[in-house]
Amino acid sequence: MDRDDTYITDPDSGLEMTRLIEQDRLLTQGMGGVLPEFEALPPDVTHILDVGCGPGGWVLDIAYTYPGCEVVGLDISEQMIHYAQARAKAEKRPNAIFVQGNILQPLAFAAGEFDLVNIRLAATFILRDAWPSILLEIFRALRPGGIIRMTESDKMSVSPAPTLEKLLQRSYQMVSAMGYGFASDGSGLGVASAMAALLAQAGFVEIQPFPHPIDFSASTELHKSQYDNFIVTFTTLLPLLLHRRVMTQTEFEATLNQVRIEMLRDDFQGTWHMLTTIARKPT
Ligand SMILES: C[S@@+](CC[C@H](N)C(=O)[O-])C[C@H]1O[C@@H](n2cnc3c(N)ncnc32)[C@H](O)[C@@H]1O
Repeated sequence: MDRDDTYITDPDSGLEMTRLIEQDRLLTQGMGGVLPEFEALPPDVTHILDVGCGPGGWVLDIAYTYPGCEVVGLDISEQMIHYAQARAKAEKRPNAIFVQGNILQPLAFAAGEFDLVNIRLAATFILRDAWPSILLEIFRALRPGGIIRMTESDKMSVSPAPTLEKLLQRSYQMVSAMGYGFASDGSGLGVASAMAALLAQAGFVEIQPFPHPIDFSASTELHKSQYDNFIVTFTTLLPLLLHRRVMTQTEFEATLNQVRIEMLRDDFQGTWHMLTTIARKPT
């Protein structure tokens, strides 16, 4: 099937939607809330856009926390948009609006329409070369003085678990060869590290990094959630790993079993280093 997106996986897959619902909970809890970088939302922020909103967890949480704000979630997946719309209706959040759209094309929003644009985990749906034009489009959609909030990670895990790290390493190398990320040696995704320079290049100012390390060691509340996230992520990547001859099916199964064993040990340790970068469009 021809697709007009560059998401690494099928955006209309039910398995991916389920993974994103769980991952959103993990991230919001692990990062300490929906907007942990702000003591209070600036009073002039009332119109928010979330690009690539997935099943809408972040948008719905913002709509609940800040009922005076209107929050628009944009995603290419019809299935995710329908799910998010159904949740907004069931949870009575009229200030959460979901629209289907493609960030690789000009946005159907007026220039200066938004006070804040959020974009989280876009590294696997925006190709390396597409980042500059997408940031310019977000710049256009923001009002002067408006805020961009980007959250990415260079690596999904930093852990002494050798098989987990090795499988991630081979996945990053594959993804890098496919044109994603900025790590020239494929040692990670490298998008978090590249954010500040990309934002400056697009014309943003007052660029500030906010690290959010998420501990998912065996002893933590988030361990089970990140364990499930890894298993589904690797399973979703399997067709690509096979197609690109990164490994065989037999090797993958043995490797994934070993990852399970490592992650289920009582002394397993791991951290997901999320980095939020906040910047402003000049006034
Ligand atoms: C990794 S998920 C991140 C979801 C959400 N931002 C979060 O952090 O939970 C990427 C999302 O981007 C969407 N997506 C992929 N390509 C897109 C595109 N070209 N335009 C808009 N959304 C896209 C996918 O459908 C998916 O929901």
